[in-house]
Amino acid sequence: MDHLVRNSDGDELLFLHEGAADLFCDYGHLEFSEGDYVMLPRGTQWWLKVHKPLKILMIEATDGHYQLPEKGIVGGHAIFDPATLLTPQINEAFKAQQQQTQQHWQVKVKRRQEISTITFKFNPLDAVGWHGNLAPVKINWRDIRPLMSHRAHLPPSAHTTFTSDRFVVCTFCPRPIESDPGALKVPFYHSNDDYDEVIFYHKGQFFSRDNIHPGMMTFHPSGFIHGPHPGAFKAGKNNIRKETDEVAVMIDTRDGLDLSKVAESVEDLNYVNSWKGEQYP
Ligand SMILES: [Fe+2]
Repeated sequence: MDHLVRNSDGDELLFLHEGAADLFCDYGHLEFSEGDYVMLPRGTQWWLKVHKPLKILMIEATDGHYQLPEKGIVGGHAIFDPATLLTPQINEAFKAQQQQTQQHWQVKVKRRQEISTITFKFNPLDAVGWHGNLAPVKINWRDIRPLMSHRAHLPPSAHTTFTSDRFVVCTFCPRPIESDPGALKVPFYHSNDDYDEVIFYHKGQFFSRDNIHPGMMTFHPSGFIHGPHPGAFKAGKNNIRKETDEVAVMIDTRDGLDLSKVAESVEDLNYVNSWKGEQYP
C-alpha cells in the first residue's frame, strides 16, 4: 500500500463512477464496484487497492454525519431495504493485507483542510473483530427502488438517499415516466431559493436535460431559474419517453457553495446557452 487516509473533518461519501477496487479500512474489507456508494464515518482509516482506474465523486459532510432520511408514510423499506446496506468484513482479503510487510505505514490525516502524516511501524488496520452500529456502509444504486407515481411528478426529495445537517444526497435511478395524460412529465421550472443544487451524471440519458453526458456535473446556485431543457421539455410534452434510464447523484445544500479553482478550470462556459435549443453548443 502507498498510504492510508483519514478524514477528521467529517463523514465521507464516495460514489464510484468508474473503475474497481478493494477498500480496506479499520472495519475490514469491502469490494468497491461501479455504482457503489460507500459511506465512511469521520476518522475511519482506509486505503484502496485499485484494479481498474477510478473516477470517484466524494462528498464530505464537513463537521457532520450522514444519516438515512425520514421515510414517513412510505415506511422503513423505502427507497431501499436497510438489509442491502453492506458493512466491511474481517475476511481473507482483509487478513491478507494484514500480512503485508513493509518498513512503515503512513496515514495522511485531513483536519481543517490541512494534511498531516502519521507514521506507524505496524499496519494500523489490524482489527480482529468489531461490534456496534457505527461502521462504513455500502449500497449500489441498483439496490435503490425509486418512488414514483403515474399521476404526479414527485419532487426530487422523494429520491433522498442520505441526509446530513445542511444538505441531502439524492439518487435518480431508472424509472417509468408518469403515464397519466394530465401528469407533468418533466420537473417544474424553479429557482431553488432555499438550496444550491449540484447534479453529477453517472449513466444513461438524463431525462430533463439536453447535451448532458456521463461524468458531467451541473451547478445551479440558488435563485437561478431553471428547469427542463428545450429538447427534454418537448419530449415530455409529446409523451415521447415512457421511461428514463438516467442514473445521477444530486446534492442540495442549504449553504451557498463556493467553486474551487480546479472546478473553475473545467467549467463549460457555454452551459448557460444550453437552454437556447438548436443554437447550442
Ligand atoms: Fe433544479
